[in-house]
Amino acid sequence: MRKAGVGAAAVVLLAVLLFFAVSSWSRQPAIARPSVQPINFPHSVHVQTYKIDCQYCHADARRSEYAGIPSVERCMGCHKIVAADRPEIKKLAEYAGKQTPVPWTRVYKLPEFTYFPHKAHIRAEIRCQTCHGAVETMTTIAAAPGPTLANDLLNLVGFKPSAPVLTMGWCVECHRQQNATRKTQAPLDCVTCHH
Ligand code: HEC
Ligand code: HEC
Ligand code: HEC
Ligand code: HEC
Ligand code: HEC
Repeated sequence: MRKAGVGAAAVVLLAVLLFFAVSSWSRQPAIARPSVQPINFPHSVHVQTYKIDCQYCHADARRSEYAGIPSVERCMGCHKIVAADRPEIKKLAEYAGKQTPVPWTRVYKLPEFTYFPHKAHIRAEIRCQTCHGAVETMTTIAAAPGPTLANDLLNLVGFKPSAPVLTMGWCVECHRQQNATRKTQAPLDCVTCHH
């Protein structure tokens, strides 16, 4: 009788493990590609060495859903003169000459069924770095990955690893914490983030 109980428990545990493994693999995670960019744009040089503010280039962040990427014209405002002889800047000048935008590869991307407005977060004075990491040190920007099997397993055995960046758990954890400590009204209802 006892043996059968243990056996059944093992089967259930195995089923649960399998379920988590499969759901973790089959989930469409938020994209976090290593970025291969058409121009090797170094954030570190611009932000750290030359003290250019994030919002000078990502100027839409405080007023719209998107942060936005600067236009070629904006880059050329400096690079018509600055480092004009370097190979990467010559590529930039070529796009400017053809009047085509640089086809940057998107790094941070949530699935289509979610709604994330930058505006609300910038106005609530959350730093870019809280969500995007130490961009000022990056030569190539990279996003941390979404859900992982390791995290699912840790959760299963009762540990609580903090949710990885770009997952729903990450959004909700911060919303709960901000609402509790700063009396903000960050949404916890499904429809505000999913519509
Ligand atoms: C609360 C977390 C959070 C903060 C704070 C934040 N971002 Fe983002 N950012 C995201 C998420 C999530 C995405 C992906 C959004 C999507 O795919 O809809 C993103 C996408 C982006 C993108 C690419 C798409 C776009 O919107 O143009 C840029 C550029 C960006 N962020 C820059 C910034 C800058 C600059 C700041 C600070 C002024 C900032 N972010 C602050 C979470 C954040
Ligand atoms: C406010 C001025 C300014 C703006 C705007 C600016 N840059 Fe720069 N950028 C610099 C300076 C200064 C350097 C460092 C040049 C040096 O090493 O002497 C630099 C360096 C670079 C480099 C490295 C060049 C190399 O190979 O050493 C690249 C690539 C670059 N910028 C691309 C861009 C792009 C793309 C944009 C637009 C999104 C842009 N920059 C906007 C000032 C600017
Ligand atoms: C000189 C202009 C410039 C400045 C200043 C700048 N960025 Fe960017 N940023 C860019 C360009 C160009 C790209 C697209 C190329 C890339 O992904 O490397 C970009 C890409 C990004 C992305 C990835 C967008 C995506 O595709 O998901 C994030 C996040 C970001 N920047 C955040 C920041 C933060 C945070 C700061 C300040 C610490 C900052 N940037 C300062 C020009 C700039
Ligand atoms: C603060 C914003 C936010 C709230 C509130 C929120 N979600 Fe999400 N949800 C997200 C984001 C972002 C993703 C995509 C990232 C991911 O897959 O983890 C997501 C993913 C999902 C997914 C897909 C899961 C997967 O693994 O592919 C489902 C289903 C979902 N949410 C349902 C809900 C329901 C039901 C509620 C209400 C109880 C809810 N969400 C509340 C932001 C939110
Ligand atoms: C670091 C903390 C933090 C993270 C991470 C975060 N948020 Fe928020 N979010 C906030 C705060 C703070 C507010 C503003 C609440 C207020 O204004 O009272 C907010 C507000 C919002 C709003 C309401 C916008 C409005 O117009 O009222 C939405 C939607 C939202 N967040 C979605 C998301 C989604 C989706 C994610 C994950 C991809 C996310 N947030 C991640 C802190 C965060």
